[in-house]
Amino acid sequence: MPDPIDRREALTTLGAVAGSLVALPLVRAEEGQAHPLGAPETYEWRRPASPVTAAIMGAGSRGNGYASYAAKYPEELKIVGVAEPIPHRNETMAVAHGIPAEQRWDTWERAFDGPRFCDAIIITTPDHLHYGPAMAALERGYDLLLEKAIAQSWAQCRDIFVRSQERGAIVGVCHVMRYSPYFRMLKHVVDSGRLGDVVSVQHLEPVEHIHMSHSFVRGNWRNTAESNPILLSKSCHDLDILRWILGRPCRRVQSFGSLSVFRSEMKPAGATLRCADGCAVEPGCPFSALRIYVRGGDRWLHHKDTPGHDEASILEWLSRTNYGRCVYQLDNDVLDHQTVNMEFDGGITAAFSMEGLTSYGGRRTRIMGTRGDLVGDEKRMDVYDFSRRERHEWVTAEHAEDLSGHGGGDFALVRDWVQAVSRRDESLLTSNLAASMESHLIGFTAEESRHEGGTLKVIPEGELPG
Ligand SMILES: NC(=O)c1ccc[n+]([C@@H]2O[C@H](COP(=O)([O-])OP(=O)(O)OC[C@H]3O[C@@H](n4cnc5c(N)ncnc54)[C@H](O)[C@@H]3O)[C@@H](O)[C@H]2O)c1
Repeated sequence: MPDPIDRREALTTLGAVAGSLVALPLVRAEEGQAHPLGAPETYEWRRPASPVTAAIMGAGSRGNGYASYAAKYPEELKIVGVAEPIPHRNETMAVAHGIPAEQRWDTWERAFDGPRFCDAIIITTPDHLHYGPAMAALERGYDLLLEKAIAQSWAQCRDIFVRSQERGAIVGVCHVMRYSPYFRMLKHVVDSGRLGDVVSVQHLEPVEHIHMSHSFVRGNWRNTAESNPILLSKSCHDLDILRWILGRPCRRVQSFGSLSVFRSEMKPAGATLRCADGCAVEPGCPFSALRIYVRGGDRWLHHKDTPGHDEASILEWLSRTNYGRCVYQLDNDVLDHQTVNMEFDGGITAAFSMEGLTSYGGRRTRIMGTRGDLVGDEKRMDVYDFSRRERHEWVTAEHAEDLSGHGGGDFALVRDWVQAVSRRDESLLTSNLAASMESHLIGFTAEESRHEGGTLKVIPEGELPG
């Protein structure tokens, strides 16, 4: 009996037939056997002689995420300090990790008033508060785990790099996607040569429209001056993944983009400043704050600055923060769609799109090579071999124990960072500062291009570290 063809396979085959008259049959992985595409190499993990001690600057969403690694693996990481202005967040972190009163502060500056008190500083403050604590921490000899975007300008990134070199610090940048099983596998497939030489890449970052409204219209990343252009604050992950997978420098970039929807000219008649103020269009508005935060469950309440998710408390929060504001009447200026064309060494082209107006999130990547191609969507990838006329599939869920936190990337990053710090070996960390800066340079240069109407920009070669 032939295997029944599943729906996805049938669609893939039909799509291929409709598109090109070529349908490559699937070679199934055998249960209990190594996957025919192989697996990424790993290094030998070693238990640290004692846990790495660290203090969290900014006990918000990301700070708590990284601290939860310490709660799960106390023999590897211990949180011994916290700087956080919101009292209940400060208190929650202190109680969870037994942080003594003298190592709790209401702002990052105070953490550096006294002598060095731990191995490393974890910087998870908002984007405009990365440079200050990073420079202060390096000055005092700490290692760093630094959230992206590294800083708000290329000059600031360079300052941090120079200081880290002077101090011999280990600095991990939270380009967490590099550590997820899916993207590690994608890189492995490219490095294995199975696709031949890579010729071009198409990469899509669909932000998902509610996520767009929450973070980039109402939230902390809505305004370039207070945060960064969205190409840095969101898509630096994607530029970083492209640079990492291709393994060679980007030479030229060009970018276009605009803010189309979330602007005052698009305000519907009858819209009030706040959604709860009797707005005439609220019931049908896809971005209604009442629909997202009150009637929509707790999916988007992680930036609520008071405890509790009861309706009265949510309405109180909406009444005084941007999260309750009309999406067409804010001070947001970051783009809701942007494209970047890139040319890497050897003439490899990459086309990237950030799209805010999608019904879905995640990433979609197509890699075209001289001997085959790859189509992936984070949940799976299909790898086609032109000569052998066959297709292999790799399903993420079958190869990963934990897909929480950026597809497993968050914890895998902390694991490698702890190894790098405890073994004084930065090579155990793929997203060290020098490597991570390359994608930031692409991003800042692409932004220059966009501001100039899409001019072709050459990446200044001498700018890169090393
Ligand atoms: N790596 C990723 O995939 C990823 C994902 C989301 C966010 N981020 C980045 O992580 C950082 C934090 O994002 P978040 O979602 O956790 O935001 P958040 O708002 O949940 O957390 C930031 C915290 O910093 C605190 N803070 C503000 N001023 C401070 C000060 N002076 N001193 C100390 N703390 C201060 C805030 O009160 C807040 O609790 C940002 O730079 C963001 O861009 C990275």
